[in-house]
Amino acid sequence: MIMQVSNLTKTFTVSGKKQIAVDKVNLSIKRGECLGLIGESGSGKSTTANLIAGLLKPDWGSIVFNSSEFVKASAKDLRIARKEMQMVFQNPQESFNPRMKLIGAISEPLIYQKKYKKSEIEQLVYGTLERVGLKGEYAAKYAWEISGGECQRAAIARAIIGNPKLILCDEITSALDVSVQAQIISLLYQLKEETDMSFLFISHDLAIVSSICDKVAVMYKGQIMESGDTLSLINNPLHPYTRDLIFNAAKPGEKRIEKVSDCNGMINGCKYYEFCNISEKQCRENPPEEVNMNGHIICCSKCSHSNLPLALS
Ligand SMILES: Nc1ncnc2c1ncn2[C@@H]1O[C@H](COP(=O)(O)OP(=O)(O)O)[C@@H](O)[C@H]1O
Ligand SMILES: [Mg+2]
Repeated sequence: MIMQVSNLTKTFTVSGKKQIAVDKVNLSIKRGECLGLIGESGSGKSTTANLIAGLLKPDWGSIVFNSSEFVKASAKDLRIARKEMQMVFQNPQESFNPRMKLIGAISEPLIYQKKYKKSEIEQLVYGTLERVGLKGEYAAKYAWEISGGECQRAAIARAIIGNPKLILCDEITSALDVSVQAQIISLLYQLKEETDMSFLFISHDLAIVSSICDKVAVMYKGQIMESGDTLSLINNPLHPYTRDLIFNAAKPGEKRIEKVSDCNGMINGCKYYEFCNISEKQCRENPPEEVNMNGHIICCSKCSHSNLPLALS
């Protein structure tokens, strides 16, 4: 296991009110595996990635990365561990310094590693640009001079150049045209096949997630409602929320209608209670139980082995 997150919890205080953004999340990623994290906007996906990357501090919980506990690590250990973890964001142009040429930006992770000569770094940058499908001449360009798709390729180059163990991809195709999205996904797929890097792939697009991820976790109001192998989860979603997400998925060009709730997530029971078509009074009051069916995990007290909600038949 390259990364294991347990009980990860983060609250934010907004206008004096505590709101829970990530609620006792458990996730694990094996070496070479791509884990998809899906859920609608505001469900806590980015906060989870930022906690894993060490950009935010959790209220509690544990993040074991590369066999070391991340949450209680010293600043020095954290710096060392971070070299093995890279992040790619939704807006590539914003993630580059506008005054720095790509060669400088892409080589940054190597400069921190302090083990290469200048000429070696240059060669590595050119080689990595080629790996992500960009010509060497892009090294001398600025991020604002190139297209969004090219810039996302450059961001991927910067992420992979130091050969990290884990890459966190947060909605990396959401700001791109559909045709460019497909190219970026196929690049990522190729990297996944060629290397033993692991990926946390965050998206609200189910089709994209199912095309690249080995496993998927479904997030709703800060909690993982269901997780499992991609095929098992997509073909046989069992949690009422996942079923809603999959069966009511928006058609291309449409926006999925999201159900808005007044509750800020600080409740004991199931957070999907008010929209669930199989909920009972106890679901509101008691924390949902976790049902594990050969690694397909459903967080629902009513989804016991004998009483699954209308499992696809
Ligand atoms: N820095 C912050 N301060 C206050 N609330 C935040 C902050 N970051 C995120 N949140 C809240 O946490 C919840 C989860 O946000 P986020 O992780 O960005 O969701 P997602 O990436 O799934 O859209 C949202 O309700 C959001 O408003
Ligand atoms: Mg987000």
